[in-house]
Amino acid sequence: MKPAIDIDLDEIMERYPGRPESLIFLMQDVQAAFSYISPEALTLVCDYTGVPMSQAYAVATFYQSFSLEPRGEHEIKVCLGTACHLKGSQRIVDELSRRLGVDAGQTTEDLKYTLETVNCLGACALAPVVVADEDYLANVTAKKLNKLLKELSQDIEERP
Ligand code: FES
Repeated sequence: MKPAIDIDLDEIMERYPGRPESLIFLMQDVQAAFSYISPEALTLVCDYTGVPMSQAYAVATFYQSFSLEPRGEHEIKVCLGTACHLKGSQRIVDELSRRLGVDAGQTTEDLKYTLETVNCLGACALAPVVVADEDYLANVTAKKLNKLLKELSQDIEERP
């Protein structure tokens, strides 16, 4: 379960001085704590650091590691780089999209999963590659995909 946003935002603000140089550190910590940067959090960070909202927004949209939309508990990234594409990774995206009920780049309504596509994860010899949270899955097949979804859903069910 994710922490209450007001408590943790205050705690995050206390970690750094209220100066423009703290912007990225604060945004990184907010992203890490909540899996996204809400409009309220971005406003608070701007007020605290004195950075204009337009500038903070530009930073948030420039770096892929920041998200302004809520993310799922689990993030599944499918590589669509050349090697993976040649080994059928588009079919993996289509299958995941069908089973999760979202397109690539979207998060399920229950906030359990975010499906993303990426271009080359630097592991082409293992194509097709899927990354679930931090775990790399090599030579992904329909069977491995089933196992992955089962494990992720069990993980969600077992949480307090
Ligand atoms: S193309 Fe997929 S890891 Fe390189």
